Amino acid sequence: MQVMHNVDLTPLNTFGLKARARDFAVLEHENDLHEIVKLPAFKRESVLWLGGGSNILLMGDYQGLAVHIQNRGIRELFRSDGLVYLEAQAGEVWHEFVLHTLEAGLSGLENLSLIPGSVGASPVQNIGAYGVEVKDAIHSVRCFDLDTCTFVTLDNAACRFSYRESLFKQAGRGRYVITAVVFALNETFRPNVRYGDLAAVVEQACAGRKITAKDVSDAVCQIRSGKLPDPKTLGNVGSFFKNPVVAAPTAQKLLAQYPDMPHYPQPDGSVKLAAGWLIECCNLKGFQIGGAAVHNQQALVLVNKQQAQAHDVYALAQHIVRTVQQTFGVALHTEPNWIGADTAPDTAAAV
Ligand code: EPU
Repeated sequence: MQVMHNVDLTPLNTFGLKARARDFAVLEHENDLHEIVKLPAFKRESVLWLGGGSNILLMGDYQGLAVHIQNRGIRELFRSDGLVYLEAQAGEVWHEFVLHTLEAGLSGLENLSLIPGSVGASPVQNIGAYGVEVKDAIHSVRCFDLDTCTFVTLDNAACRFSYRESLFKQAGRGRYVITAVVFALNETFRPNVRYGDLAAVVEQACAGRKITAKDVSDAVCQIRSGKLPDPKTLGNVGSFFKNPVVAAPTAQKLLAQYPDMPHYPQPDGSVKLAAGWLIECCNLKGFQIGGAAVHNQQALVLVNKQQAQAHDVYALAQHIVRTVQQTFGVALHTEPNWIGADTAPDTAAAV
């Protein structure tokens, strides 16, 4: 296992923040983990496990070991009851994997097309879009357990998935290194196009013919490219905030004042609000601090406009959280992981 030093992490984080890692290694096969944990540079509490870099914000140079997870491979495990079980290694690129499943005639992931990042990162925040969450298709997750230095398989229930949350962000944080994910995909396609304008876009493209999973994927790509910036041309980490969930009376009070406010009642009686709408209502679209700005097409996304510094992004996030809190009395929480910040700006802004 080769350890490199003073490695530039700028191309490895999609926001494009400038940072270097003191120590850096590449994981090419899951068995490399046995060697990685024995490296002198390895300190369990301070390893940066780096996937596609699309959900992290680097607050400065990384004074520890960064491990770039690059193990690749996709294989079919078995078929049963109309489901095909595919195992993908953590280092596979998410969208390439989705396209692979579609080419293999399988469905279940088409609504999650074009999400940046890697397969191994997908369960961590339970990526979701257009009415589907990845938990709906995950059978199990293979991990290296740093407590025991053995490989374990966690089934779907053990991963404790919820909206943009999982065991890997909560109690299992720092314990499990995800090395592969097993998906249960459908042999027979059943479209799920209830979200927003997805049905209309799909129907227009198909003009009366039978809809395929690839049609849904194409429509999702079209909608996403219309409002979400491509990290290759404009640095970003996708949604910067989670959509806040509030109690029903809070939502009713807000609706009396803002009847057009998008709101999504949840099974438990609470109500999910659209953070992008709340931010736009505060006139923050396009608002900029230093090189970091609120995206013009989708206020939920912050972008790296002009070589943003880490403190620009932090200050912008803090300003947004404070403004939304003052205007609507609603607390926003950031979605990406802040690497090297003592507190996330949503916590800091609330003080
Ligand atoms: N809206 C505005 N202004 C904005 C943004 C949104 O008024 O600037 C309104 C929209 O008009 C709509 C509502 O807010 O009525 C919801 O907007 P949208 O459908 O664009 O979705 P979102 O809630 O903003 C979520 C996910 C996205 C995912 C989309 C589509 C979260 C945090 N974000 O965004 O996920 O692609 O739904 O399913 O749940 C990501 O996590 O990185 C991500 C992009």
